[in-house]
Amino acid sequence: MNKTYFIETYGCQMNVADSELVESLLQKEGYTKASQLDKADAIFVNTCAIREHAEEKVHSQLGRYDLIKKEKPETIIGVLGCMAQSLKHDLLENRPFVDIILGPDSYRRLPELLRRKTEDSKSLVDTTLSRFEVYDDLFPSRNEGVNAWISIMRGCDKFCTFCIVPFTRGRERSRSVDSIIAEATQAVQDGFSEITLLGQNVNSYSHDQMDFHHLLDDVAQVPGLKRIRYTSPHPQDMTDELLKTMAKHDTICNYVHLPLQAGNDRILKRMNRTYTRDHFVNLALRIRDYLPNVGLSTDIIVGFPGETEAEFQDTLEVMEILKFDSAFNFKYSPRRGTKASEYDDQVDENVKQDRLVRVIELQKKHTLERNSELVGSIQTVLVEKESKRSSAQWAGRTDSNKWVIFDKEDVQIQSMVQLQITKATGISLHGELVKQAEAA
Ligand code: 5AD
Ligand code: SF4
Repeated sequence: MNKTYFIETYGCQMNVADSELVESLLQKEGYTKASQLDKADAIFVNTCAIREHAEEKVHSQLGRYDLIKKEKPETIIGVLGCMAQSLKHDLLENRPFVDIILGPDSYRRLPELLRRKTEDSKSLVDTTLSRFEVYDDLFPSRNEGVNAWISIMRGCDKFCTFCIVPFTRGRERSRSVDSIIAEATQAVQDGFSEITLLGQNVNSYSHDQMDFHHLLDDVAQVPGLKRIRYTSPHPQDMTDELLKTMAKHDTICNYVHLPLQAGNDRILKRMNRTYTRDHFVNLALRIRDYLPNVGLSTDIIVGFPGETEAEFQDTLEVMEILKFDSAFNFKYSPRRGTKASEYDDQVDENVKQDRLVRVIELQKKHTLERNSELVGSIQTVLVEKESKRSSAQWAGRTDSNKWVIFDKEDVQIQSMVQLQITKATGISLHGELVKQAEAA
């Protein structure tokens, strides 16, 4: 009988890529995709443990699955990914309806566990972390779109004191260049225009004496690729060679996500970020030297344990110096098992909230300033999807990673167009078609 699956994905792009791997494993087992969650024979949730808020969302979904399971007891419920890894015991105890629990390095076991599940009534669990698993030979089953995610390394060895990732995803390991190039080539054949190379610390990539900039140089030569992006790098591994490689190839997007986290040296040290504020600022300036008009974004955590008002202001100051194009801002969220969660000077929730509002406000101002600088300029945009606001308009990105909204006219999705920027908002740009650079 034809069995169906439904998979919901929370968290980072790495999880999106992992879910595509899982889909490919399920399809090999003869499963097809269900149109709706409550129609599926097997429901999976790929989970994120990075902050409490991410876990809460998954918990509320699990409540829904419980109801489905009560109505249709034969439905298989699977919890995958980072929460499976970090909350295995909690899930086993408090969510008895969960049939399968698999950590990020155990997806290969899914077909076997699904088969076993038909005979076995207890929960089947595998959260072993591997030093080697990179799913090298497994090609993901991608949904339609313009961008293909390609995972090039897994895990993290940096151990920032706030972060759960080294515990849920294990040690750093990289895939071979050959298999990455093969996957990128396949993605082009499957009709994707853009690829994004993914890794928890993407620029720590290292395989057989090939570093990240070597890999990027090779990927940039894959015929037919219009754009290459990568995320997320660590400032510590941002080498001049990498910046030179980015400058050398037009297809490598002029965009760097450079997570600051905090702008104060004592806090950075307590976070184990391995750089100082001056080092970070100089690095950002060097990036702008190598890559004129680069889009620069960041991650900021406010209210890390012990952060005083003056130390928080150092973060605002770095923001003022660099004026990022955009920022992802978070309140520090204690994660069980991490070093920072044990510090006894946790910051009050109201203080965190107040600081979050202040960084968001400042960033809004900077984003608008940066976006406004582009008004009047001509930008090359890859057409990616319909605008959320209007079906008569497209949304596409500049290579510096800014969304531009413009009238569809006779332009096709996946084409590169030249747009004159007419308006800037705090979120995106608006543009008018100049001429079509190339057809899709
Ligand atoms: N609390 C808040 N933010 C966190 N991040 C990682 N761990 C935590 C945490 N415990 C943020 C960091 C990281 C981004 C992916 O998530 O800013 O760069
Ligand atoms: Fe987490 Fe730090 Fe590793 Fe990023 S580098 S995944 S923030 S431990």
